[in-house]
Amino acid sequence: MSSQRAAQIAGHLNYPQGLLAGQVAIITGSGQGIGAEAARLFANEGAKVVVSDIDAAKANAVAESISKSGGTAIAVPGDMLDDKYLKTLVKKTVEFGNTINIIVNNAGYTWDGVIHKMTDKQWDNIIALHNTAPFKLVREAAPYFRVTDGQPRCIINISSTSGVHGNAGQANYGLAKAGINGLTKVIAKEWGPKFGVRCNSIAFGHILTRLTAAKEDGAFVTTPDGEKIALGIPTGQGSQSKDANLDIPLRRAGTATEAASAILALASPLSSYITGQVIMVTGGRNM
Ligand SMILES: NC(=O)c1ccc[n+]([C@@H]2O[C@H](COP(=O)([O-])OP(=O)(O)OC[C@H]3O[C@@H](n4cnc5c(N)ncnc54)[C@H](O)[C@@H]3O)[C@@H](O)[C@H]2O)c1
Repeated sequence: MSSQRAAQIAGHLNYPQGLLAGQVAIITGSGQGIGAEAARLFANEGAKVVVSDIDAAKANAVAESISKSGGTAIAVPGDMLDDKYLKTLVKKTVEFGNTINIIVNNAGYTWDGVIHKMTDKQWDNIIALHNTAPFKLVREAAPYFRVTDGQPRCIINISSTSGVHGNAGQANYGLAKAGINGLTKVIAKEWGPKFGVRCNSIAFGHILTRLTAAKEDGAFVTTPDGEKIALGIPTGQGSQSKDANLDIPLRRAGTATEAASAILALASPLSSYITGQVIMVTGGRNM
């Protein structure tokens, strides 16, 4: 029997209603990619999932597909850069599930440029999305985390190898993904002792989503003032080069499901003594 299967069986023997039974989880950026997979995996384990994404059509589709397959989910679409939305997100989550047990700060994208060409707007936008918005969401949700009702509570912040090891062309993203790891440790130290809140980061390496797909595919996001930011990596460079995975011991990129499985593992009671950590999910790259 594989160790993965043995762990699954052990998990389900101890948690027959699922690893996250009855827990209320907000997953930002869960309209697609890693977040959408996490939403599905969380719902499979009994969580009540709030699908949060700027793309309303995609958020609604994820919530509907979870509901159709017997899970519990609602979509609360909106822009993480809009302070009013963060208040709405917390309010609607509590109306839906009465509390909040888990926040996964996952929404994000890259807007690369070398240092001498990076604009203030590029810099500010990436830090606002990857640092300020998660902070404001956690602050808004504080009344549901600073409690002593015996329920599990955890926050998972999505980081990147860029924030741990740096990456040329990503001054903004590298800083932001390092910054979120600092916030993780502060939350773990502030809310661990009295409230038992766990907080961890997961730093992903090369995961197969539209962020690492060919730029020529044409995916983009739109900033609050209407500017289109092209997503993906130009063919022949970085994750789109033929040698992209040669420095990864597993010699391949990870799937969104594998990435989301690490989020589930960290949110689950099997990780109940893990807090304040930056977990590298990279196929072994940069160890
Ligand atoms: N794919 C990788 O290789 C990789 C590596 C390291 C870290 N990450 C991180 O993982 C996270 C998820 O990325 P992914 O690869 O699944 O990308 P993705 O583009 O597939 O999904 C990201 C989601 O975030 C949403 N989003 C973006 N801006 C938003 C905003 N302002 N408000 C609300 N939602 C917003 C998008 O609409 C999208 O649905 C990001 O934080 C990313 O930086 C990804």
